[in-house]
Amino acid sequence: MYRLLYPLRTYLIVSGIGDEVNIMAADWVTVLSFRPEIVGVAISPRRYTHKLITKYGEFVIGVPSVNMLKDVWIAGTESGPQKLGKMNITLTPSKTVRVPSIKEALANIECKVVDARDYGDHTFFVGKITGYTYDLQVFKNNEPVPGAGFLAHIARNKFITFKDEIISV
Ligand SMILES: Cc1cc2nc3c(=O)[nH]c(=O)nc-3n(C[C@H](O)[C@H](O)[C@H](O)COP(=O)(O)O)c2cc1C
Repeated sequence: MYRLLYPLRTYLIVSGIGDEVNIMAADWVTVLSFRPEIVGVAISPRRYTHKLITKYGEFVIGVPSVNMLKDVWIAGTESGPQKLGKMNITLTPSKTVRVPSIKEALANIECKVVDARDYGDHTFFVGKITGYTYDLQVFKNNEPVPGAGFLAHIARNKFITFKDEIISV
């Protein structure tokens, strides 16, 4: 029962270029390799995003903050690029891919697709990280600042964020 893996962090997947740029919410994002840096995201073929990632072979993973929750919800409940008109998001050029990044995001990870494989009702897109940008106030010495407003998903329209507290062992 995959729900037992929750809460999971929620991300914004940017795909497409020019007028076709689209953004969807995604929980099913994971790291696959440290060197080279490879990540993966499971996306249903029913998503417009699936079509755009397949077409351009690139995507960007935006890390939203809790302040962006309304936009995350629009990204996760509406389909197609016209939803961007309802969102308070500024697109900004990425460094290594044609797909843009999200200015308001805490970080943006630029990926080029190296593999795509269907598992059940989702496609697992595997992406090599080719570039990234991040907020220096949110990631210090390669570590996230816990109180920066990272967003995680509980279920349906319920989300949580982290306390500004680190527990060390
Ligand atoms: C919090 C949240 C997380 C989601 N995670 C995923 C996911 O990991 N994979 C997926 O295929 N859809 C996921 N969805 C559903 C898509 O975001 C949703 O169907 C969206 O409208 C697709 O947009 P598009 O058709 O413009 O690509 C999620 C939705 C929400 C609200």
